[in-house]
Amino acid sequence: MKLMNLVRIVLVATFILAVAACAPAPAPTTVATEAPAVAEQPFGAADCAPNCTYADMVMCYPQLGAESDWRTANTASFKDQSAQLGYKLVFSDAQQKQENQISAIRACIQQGVSVIALPPVVEDGWDAVLTEAQNAGIPVIIVDRSVSADPSMYASHIGSDMVLEGKRAAAEFNKKFPDGAKILELSGTTGSGAAEGRAKGFREDLNANIEIIDSQTGNFTRAEALPVMQAFLKKYKAGEDFQGIFIHNDDMGIGAIEALKAAGVNPGDLFIVSVDGTRGGFQAMIDGWFQADVECNPLLGPQVSEMALALMNGLAIDREVLTNETVYYPDNAAELLPTRQY
Ligand code: AHR
Repeated sequence: MKLMNLVRIVLVATFILAVAACAPAPAPTTVATEAPAVAEQPFGAADCAPNCTYADMVMCYPQLGAESDWRTANTASFKDQSAQLGYKLVFSDAQQKQENQISAIRACIQQGVSVIALPPVVEDGWDAVLTEAQNAGIPVIIVDRSVSADPSMYASHIGSDMVLEGKRAAAEFNKKFPDGAKILELSGTTGSGAAEGRAKGFREDLNANIEIIDSQTGNFTRAEALPVMQAFLKKYKAGEDFQGIFIHNDDMGIGAIEALKAAGVNPGDLFIVSVDGTRGGFQAMIDGWFQADVECNPLLGPQVSEMALALMNGLAIDREVLTNETVYYPDNAAELLPTRQY
């Protein structure tokens, strides 16, 4: 009997040990002494921290649209990074509609992505969806344009200083027209961080003797800029009523040039400053149509990917990363064009 009891105890103990061995391993925990610096952001690290690699990463990129060559290069930069580094990119194209971006973000939250990188079409109206991401513990990196939401609602912003770009454009007009002038503005998407920032910086630094006689949006596209320029030309006589145009991106600049040429106006007789520094912008400088092109760099994939991995690993990150940019001129445009990546 004693022997039978002993056999039973051994069998039960063996069974318990076997069950314990088959149970799923507990989620990896970070040991305080070994843990890396904790990011100053309200999102926890991923379960794989501190050893997450790109193979663990699923990045949501609800691209705002395909409105310009700049945007095409920006999309390519993220797709290339995902292929090179080996992370999964959940990409969508919102066709310049905020509601499409919000739906795409909600789908990504449902899917449980590791990080959301958001290039916001406009500045306002993100609070609700940013709160949803925050509640789901998914960090959001704002990419390219800014948002008006409180910075505590997202991990970081990586992009251009749009106000500085506007100031750089103003400096070109101030140099060209020390005795004053009348100019037009072809602005980007209304309510976007890019258009608002550029318009603000431009007005802050433009000399008082240079008057912006009219400003209309061309929504950052060639197709929409063309009729806006045509309408300007019906209202104002080029050279007499206005001497220059500040254009918020190269695509709109190219659309405007088409309209000017079609109306029999030589674009080179006006002072045109654009923004982006795309190949199209460089060609317009070589052709004599743009007199300066303020750089806005779309190749943000590498920086955003690196920060996304740092967030997953619970590492400290910078809350704002602004791209270092410059201004390009016609004098060396031909030499630089072959080196342009977008
Ligand atoms: O937000 C960046 C701007 O958006 C670029 O200047 C423009 O080309 C793009 O469409």
